[in-house]
Amino acid sequence: MKKIAVLPGDGIGPEVIKEAIKALKAVAEVYGHEFSFEEGLIGACAIDASGDPFPSETEKLCKSADAILFGAIGDPKYDNDPTAKVRPEQGLLKMRKELGLFCNIRPLTTYEALAEISPLKNHIVKGVDFVVFRELTGGIYFGEPRGRSSDGETAFDTCVYSRYEIERIAKLAFVAAGERSGHLTLVDKANVLASSQLWRETVTEMSSDYPEVELDFMFVDNAAMKIIQNPSYFDVVLTENMFGDILTDEASVISGSLGLSPSASIGSGIGLFEPIHGSYPQVTNQDRANPVGSILSAAMLLNYAFGMAEEAGLIEDAVASSIEQGFCTEDLLPIDRNNESHGTMAVGDFIALLIGSKIEQINNC
Ligand code: IPM
Ligand code: MN
Repeated sequence: MKKIAVLPGDGIGPEVIKEAIKALKAVAEVYGHEFSFEEGLIGACAIDASGDPFPSETEKLCKSADAILFGAIGDPKYDNDPTAKVRPEQGLLKMRKELGLFCNIRPLTTYEALAEISPLKNHIVKGVDFVVFRELTGGIYFGEPRGRSSDGETAFDTCVYSRYEIERIAKLAFVAAGERSGHLTLVDKANVLASSQLWRETVTEMSSDYPEVELDFMFVDNAAMKIIQNPSYFDVVLTENMFGDILTDEASVISGSLGLSPSASIGSGIGLFEPIHGSYPQVTNQDRANPVGSILSAAMLLNYAFGMAEEAGLIEDAVASSIEQGFCTEDLLPIDRNNESHGTMAVGDFIALLIGSKIEQINNC
């Protein structure tokens, strides 16, 4: 029995997580696995319930599980109040830190059927397939000192990195590049920042251990341009926390919708899996959110946390097939054959059905 801690969070989080669980249950049925699901609070809903965006019961639940499936956090009532002392995002940052989730993996896959709705031209999007390794527990997000001068007129954040923080994620990125097409790009701002210079130095030193990987470097401003101009250039991108945050939002629109992208956050112990879209309060509880990012995050969970690569592939194939058949939510509407979109739940049901339809084939093998 594998125990999955489920943290639906805020906004559309609970809706899309429900569909990811459907997909996991369908996989369990096909392969005869046993998964248990236990829910915890995080984000704005946890603040409302207990005043704490990452309550200790949730932390306990996470530490007792084999993997974490996470939805989204954030609520407009906090976004418009920059002085709020307790914010939902603190829950996410605290969780990343407490659970040692230093490596955030964000793959970008494109689907031929969606080429029309990408904001980029067809020939630029064709065949794009890369993955970003974003450092997640260091840099300017966590560096000290941070705050205000005593007169309140000056504010400061600090970007700090130590060699070991760079080495542990770089190792994972080198290995991933070796398993893919062998091209690793370190994105930094080494022409200006001391922390970036340490990244470059460390990663360059490590590269002799990975002769099969071709390592190159790119300044982050140039990388932002290249992601739009020639995204096929990239295979594995390695970068620090904030650069990775910005570049992965940018990259996610290449496929046609932010709603498609999954992510994995891994580290020393348990892994966490979440769609990269946020809480999207504008469509919350309207059965309009795209569940694909969440369902593909469940696939990453199977792959990274449980070593179930075949099962993960089954989910990915089912998602690809639903997109090819044009059975999609409204963000992908232009490709729908009947020019009518489907709801979150209907898309989740359809994908679960496609997964379940494999049961015959597998039993016959
Ligand atoms: C993300 C989000 C978070 C981040 C926010 C919600 C703190 O944008 O996961 O990319 O900046 O890391
Ligand atoms: Mn982000």
